[in-house]
Amino acid sequence: MKIRFASVVFATVLSGLTAIHAQAAETELVGDAKAGATKAATCGACHGVTGVSEVNPEWPNLAGQSHWYIAEQLSYFKSQVRANAVMYGMAAALEPQDMADVAAYFEAQTPKGLEADPSQVALGGKIYRSGIAARGVPACMACHGPQGMGNGPAKWPALRAQHDTYVYNQLKSYAAKTKYTVVEGAPKPPERVDMMYTIAGKLSDEEMKAVASYVQGLR
Ligand code: HEC
Ligand code: HEC
Repeated sequence: MKIRFASVVFATVLSGLTAIHAQAAETELVGDAKAGATKAATCGACHGVTGVSEVNPEWPNLAGQSHWYIAEQLSYFKSQVRANAVMYGMAAALEPQDMADVAAYFEAQTPKGLEADPSQVALGGKIYRSGIAARGVPACMACHGPQGMGNGPAKWPALRAQHDTYVYNQLKSYAAKTKYTVVEGAPKPPERVDMMYTIAGKLSDEEMKAVASYVQGLR
């Protein structure tokens, strides 16, 4: 029953996204991971030299994240469409080819799994794997994958091994619809974000914390 619910959402979303994603594919630059390693030197202070962030759980891991997502998010930070004062300055210095190169570098790194808080696994796992059918919350797994690997062609980011604090912060900003802002003259926020605005808006604070903890333990 629950699995069927999730796959209906999955199919609907897939068909809706085909057009958006065909458009994006045309302009994608090919990144060079070797060049990216040099260009990523300044990023290491926060995200870790190999994209494994170990100092502050508000700084996301980048290791193993899809290159398209990293490059795209960098251009959103640069135009200040994705709201985050720390990253504005970091992205400002990067040209599109630099973004593609650092993205290729971080995608090629290996994420390091963290542990879920055992007390959060039951609720977090239920939300991640089955959703909350009574409130129309789809399973996170339907888009982000059973192991949190994401889905490259559909443009759904990877979540596995991501810090619970970072995941929780993102869920809060999706629920408040503050993750992106509209900036005049800049590209619009991705249309697909509406999915996360709706989903996060249906989760309680406790549910966000539980699913974030569960995600941290995925590998
Ligand atoms: C001073 C610390 C700091 C440095 C240095 C830094 N970042 Fe960040 N980065 C952050 C923080 C904090 C966030 C989370 C922003 C948020 O909560 O939305 C972030 C988010 C990101 C994201 C979004 C990840 C996701 O999963 O959505 C990417 C991509 C990124 N940074 C790439 C880079 C790159 C590439 C560099 C180097 C050019 C860099 N960062 C340097 C602090 C930093
Ligand atoms: C229908 C597909 C879909 C479902 C179901 C879904 N997501 Fe997402 N998720 C997305 C998309 C698309 C994005 C990228 C949005 C953007 O560009 O900001 C995303 C982004 C995210 C991010 C930001 C990742 C990062 O590194 O910045 C988090 C965290 C997240 N989702 C958590 C969840 C959780 C937890 C659930 C289950 C409660 C869930 N998602 C269910 C499609 C989905």
